[in-house]
This record gives sequence, structure tokens and C-alpha cells, in this order.
Amino acid sequence: MNTTNPPTVPAAPRAAADPLPGPDGGAALYRERRERVLAAMRARGGGVALVPTASEALRNRDADYPYRHDSYFYYLTGFTEPDALLVLDANAGDGQPAAILFCRAKNPERETWDGFRFGPDAARETFGFDAAFPIDERDARVPQLIANRPALHYALAASNGFDTQVRGWLDAVRAQSRSGVTAPSAAYDLLPVLDDMRIVKDAHELSVMRRAAQISALAHRRAMAACRPGIREYELEAELLYAFRKHGAQGPAYGSIVAAGANACVLHYPAGNASARDGDLVLIDAACELNGYASDITRTFPANGRFTPAQRELYDIVLAAQQAAIDATRAGVDFEAPHQAAVRVLAQGLLDTGIIDRARFASVDDVIAERAYARFYMHRTGHWLGMDVHDAGDYRERDANLPADATPPWRTLRPSMTLTIEPGLYVRAADDVPERYWDIGIRIEDDAIVTATGCELITRDVPVEAAEIEALMQDAQRRA
Ligand code: GLY
Ligand code: MN
Ligand code: MN
Repeated sequence: MNTTNPPTVPAAPRAAADPLPGPDGGAALYRERRERVLAAMRARGGGVALVPTASEALRNRDADYPYRHDSYFYYLTGFTEPDALLVLDANAGDGQPAAILFCRAKNPERETWDGFRFGPDAARETFGFDAAFPIDERDARVPQLIANRPALHYALAASNGFDTQVRGWLDAVRAQSRSGVTAPSAAYDLLPVLDDMRIVKDAHELSVMRRAAQISALAHRRAMAACRPGIREYELEAELLYAFRKHGAQGPAYGSIVAAGANACVLHYPAGNASARDGDLVLIDAACELNGYASDITRTFPANGRFTPAQRELYDIVLAAQQAAIDATRAGVDFEAPHQAAVRVLAQGLLDTGIIDRARFASVDDVIAERAYARFYMHRTGHWLGMDVHDAGDYRERDANLPADATPPWRTLRPSMTLTIEPGLYVRAADDVPERYWDIGIRIEDDAIVTATGCELITRDVPVEAAEIEALMQDAQRRA
């Protein structure tokens, strides 16, 4: 890692000031995804899929939370406005619309207050739907669209509000039963179909995720360089947020964790007011969302730019555990393999340091068998990463032929799956633990794309070796 010539983020492929952006990556991408869903529905006998986007959420009085679209809806549309619904009709005949969008109508007055909206006509044209209607016409039109169709496909029982809407639309169809109109008689959960698509990323998704990862890595470099004894957690968070926005990301992908000293032993500690004291470690788990895709990085570094011997011992154990997990990540192995590899290294390190009593556990196998490591390493080594930071998709294979009470096998990794690799150690003060390790919390997290022979780490523009972190921080201190 060259600390004097830090990496830069390549220019965005599209001008940020583009006033009327269409779907990121082009409409054809989303049309192809919709075609795959329609084909899966036809394979199940046809029917109509209903995919709503997220609702706006009130924060307090008349102020909303920043709006974030629903990930499934976005995956199939590229459309980011609230108040929208996608309808896919797998029984549409020739000349009938199969992909239909409901969205907000044009409204010059509201657009004066809240900004541009496409409206149905421009949305249909720009995003490549077969038809589009104002969202206010949804309750009149959806019953017509689902009438005489064999089945509904949607996120079954995932939302009280949407379940109630579906029931209302079904009731409206059933009310016409004496006129010979039939209502769908089956409902399928659409999410497993979408999850199986989302779990393997396409080239467009990978390019967005690489860029998100680069931005987040630069943000971590910036925070490391700004760190001095006495700095507050929220000041480091400000450095991260600045870098996310400066490089065009929409914001953090999840609540930023900036934890000084013992706070690092709280896994989801939100950046607070604490100062990073001379001799403390600082753990930062923070990353941006770019164009709907998350990144997820953790680095742990000394507030003063030099690890103490005890910190360095544990840091190198976690780093070795991460490397073991990286080495175990490739197409054809199961999802659990990187975790098992990391746990073995961590368990050995816990024995070697005496954090786990060598008199009580004869071997690393005993530590693993009795899960003695779990007191100091209580989370898994990774998760899927994508539009959601803990992305969609089962960790186990779905096999309809397995007996109902059998545990399905772990999912097999395939090329272009994306996941995090994030071992850690969290040692709280306790009488049965050597004092030199008290209150040390360390996590190291990188994002990986699975390849046929290994994995591509996309977050390594920020250093991870202890000596490289120290060099970056000392270089920044000299320049200050
Ligand atoms: N940032 C959440 C996680 O690492 O899983
Ligand atoms: Mn993570
Ligand atoms: Mn994380």
C-alpha cells in the first residue's frame, strides 16, 4: 500500500447533474430481469405479480425520514420514486401489457415543493414498461388486471398494509363472480424467486459495488488520517459522511459504527460522543450506499497511530483469521467454509494468548466443540452483500425433496456472489482474562466477489496490515 499516493475514485460514469436520469445501467437490464420473473411465473402456471415500492416514513410531526425505495422493486424497475407499484402479468396475450407501472401523476404544484416526478407517460418511455398509470388509479385497475388470472405472486404476509390492499383487490374481483369473473385461487411467495436472482450479481451490479467499495475505502482512509488522541467519535463519523457524499454516494448504507476503546466491544455501537484516548483502539464499521448498492467495511486502528503490543497481538490474530476465511472463499465451497476457517484461527489465538484457559481446553478442537470462542467472537464471519447490507438470499440450499425436519446443507458459493469477510475479537474486562487484553474490540471487514478460483476483495484501497495502517496514520500526522 502506497501511503503517499492514495488511491482515487474514478470519475462517475454519468454526470451527477444529469437532470433526468433514467434507470441506472439502462432500461434493458431491468426489462430482462422482469422477463426472467415472468418466465418463472409461467413455469408455475402463470398469474400476476405485485411488487410495491417502500412507503415514505414519517420521522416526527411533518418531517419524513430520507426516502429509500424498496430493493426488490428497484431490482425490477430501476425506479426510485415513492408511491409506485409494479404489476407483471404472465398471462398477457399478444398486444396486452405484461409489465405495468403505477406511479405518481405529474403535478406541477407538488413538483414545485418536492421536485421532479416522471409521471406515467415519461416513466413508461424511459424505464421501458408496456403500460403505466397514475397510482391513484391502482384500486380501480388492479382488480381488472388480476381478474381471470390463476394466481397472485407477491411477498406473502410480509406487510400488513400490503396484505390488506391485496385483500381489497381480491374482494373487488370476487364481487363480480356472478358475472362469470374468477379471482386468482392461488398465491405464491415471490421473494424466493427474486432472492435466487439477486444472490448472483450481474456485471452492472458488480461495477456499482466496486465503486461503492472504493468510495468507502477512501472514507476509511480519511478517518484514519484525521484520527488523533482526543478526537470524538462523531468527528470521525463526520469525516466518513463527508467522503461518501463528496464522491457521489447517496449516504451511509447502514448506521455508522465508530467505537473508541471499550465501546468497540459493543457490536452495533452507534458513533457517539466518546473521545478516542491515547492508547485506545478505534473500530469503524461504516460504508456508503451508491445507486442502491451497499458496501460494508470495518477497520480497527490505534488512536495515536501505534498499536500497543497487546493490541497488535490480537489484531494479527484477527487478520490471520480473515486471511484464512479469504483463502476458503471460492466457487464450489459452501457458505460455512470461510466461517469455520476463521473460527479455527481465532480459537487457536484465544488459547495462545491465554484468553481461553489452556488448563481447561486441551486443544483448539475442544474450544470449537464447546463453542468457548463464542464469548469473544459471537457473530458470523460474513453475510451476503448487495442492495441490502445484509442482502437477500438464504444461507442454505432450498431443496423441496428434503424431509421437513432435515436441516438443508449450506449454500454452495458461485461466481459473482458477493459477501463480507469480517472476523473479530471482543474481550471485555473480566477476572478470568489477562488484564492486558481488557476492553479490546477488533473487527476487520472486507467485501468480496466470489470467483471460480478464489475471491476478489473490492475494499482494499484502505490498508489492513497493522504496519500499513501505522504508516498511513504517521504520514498524516507528519503532514498536519
Ligand atoms: N455493518 C454491519 C455488518 O457488518 O454486518
Ligand atoms: Mn458486515
Ligand atoms: Mn460492517
